[in-house]
Amino acid sequence: FWRRRKLERMNTKIYQLNQIDEAAAALKRGELVAFPTETVYGLGADATNEAAVKNVYLAKGRPSDNPLIVHVNSVAMVEKYAAEIPDNARKLMKAFWPGSLTIILKIKKGALSKTVTGGLDTVAFRFPDCQPTLDLIGKAGVPMVGPSANTSGKPSPTTAQHVYHDLNGKITGILDNGPTRVGVESTVLDMSTDTPVILRPGAVTKKDIESVIGLIDLNHHKVGKNEIPKAPGMKYKHYAPSAQVYIVDDGTDWTTVAKWVSEQPFDVGFMATEDVLKGLNLPMNAVQFSLGKNVTDASARLFDGLREFDDQPNVKAIVTQAFPAHDLGGAYMNRLNKSAGGVHFDPQQVK
Ligand code: TXA
Ligand code: MG
Repeated sequence: FWRRRKLERMNTKIYQLNQIDEAAAALKRGELVAFPTETVYGLGADATNEAAVKNVYLAKGRPSDNPLIVHVNSVAMVEKYAAEIPDNARKLMKAFWPGSLTIILKIKKGALSKTVTGGLDTVAFRFPDCQPTLDLIGKAGVPMVGPSANTSGKPSPTTAQHVYHDLNGKITGILDNGPTRVGVESTVLDMSTDTPVILRPGAVTKKDIESVIGLIDLNHHKVGKNEIPKAPGMKYKHYAPSAQVYIVDDGTDWTTVAKWVSEQPFDVGFMATEDVLKGLNLPMNAVQFSLGKNVTDASARLFDGLREFDDQPNVKAIVTQAFPAHDLGGAYMNRLNKSAGGVHFDPQQVK
């Protein structure tokens, strides 16, 4: 029934980095504060405060069966809430924390509310590589839940302004640390089962993980049509801007793409690397967005670009450059595929 409750409207504050004390005080009062990380901005609440955690779902419009990541600033904090930390998990924490690897462990019975875990007997832990947020957790003195700070279904926020756009009036404040560095969300690794499974690819890759705990079956989890997804978040529509996104596969002739764009009766977002944009004669109805020099830049900019076109109602389609799906490219293509709903640009349709 709590889902029908309404949040009180308020003026959302932007906290500067010298106002972390104020942000921490708000968290301790059970209020919502968005926070930066190296991946994307998160929507923070005291993980031990049931009412506060419920408000996170309300503010995002997030289904209540989709569990939240618990952000910590020490392994000791994990020990308080996890049933146990297996040796391999400890090794991975040592190798990649602080950093973009979220680790799912069995939960200590009764240690955190059902609201945090969506009723599962596991919980996801993340130690972000972002000092202001580690300070925020330290000053609040509690672990902090943090889904990405976007409205459910929209691209994740990579700036404080993105968060403001989605959540202004619904949360107390946003701790502003400028644009995030990585731009795609953390790798989610399930270590609550015998065989670790990557539930969501991110900047910490399969190769990185195997270099620490040895070759094991780390197949990305793919959700079959009638299968229940392991990471509940995977079943929902994600990262979708209002316009239809078309993936432009590696090796596609970009002049064909430009020709197709010129034939459309509306504006088309054109997301590609500097190299591609430089060498092309873009039609008048193309609105370009540079993905930078390489896949690292592209990952950092993808969500920003998709969001920018949401503010331009004349843009009714977006063509976006693909990258080879290995290493960081795996995470980039995972997000791009979801935002496009698997739709690719088809050169055959251009005469
Ligand atoms: O980089 C990130 O991970 C960002 C920043 C803010 O830390 N956070 C983030 O949270 O992306 P969120 O809630 O948007 O995505 C977390 C994903 C969801 O797909 C959720 O279903 C899954 O992790 N997840 C969380 N707890 C889980 C659990 N116990 N078992 C399986 N999946 C879980
Ligand atoms: Mg999210």
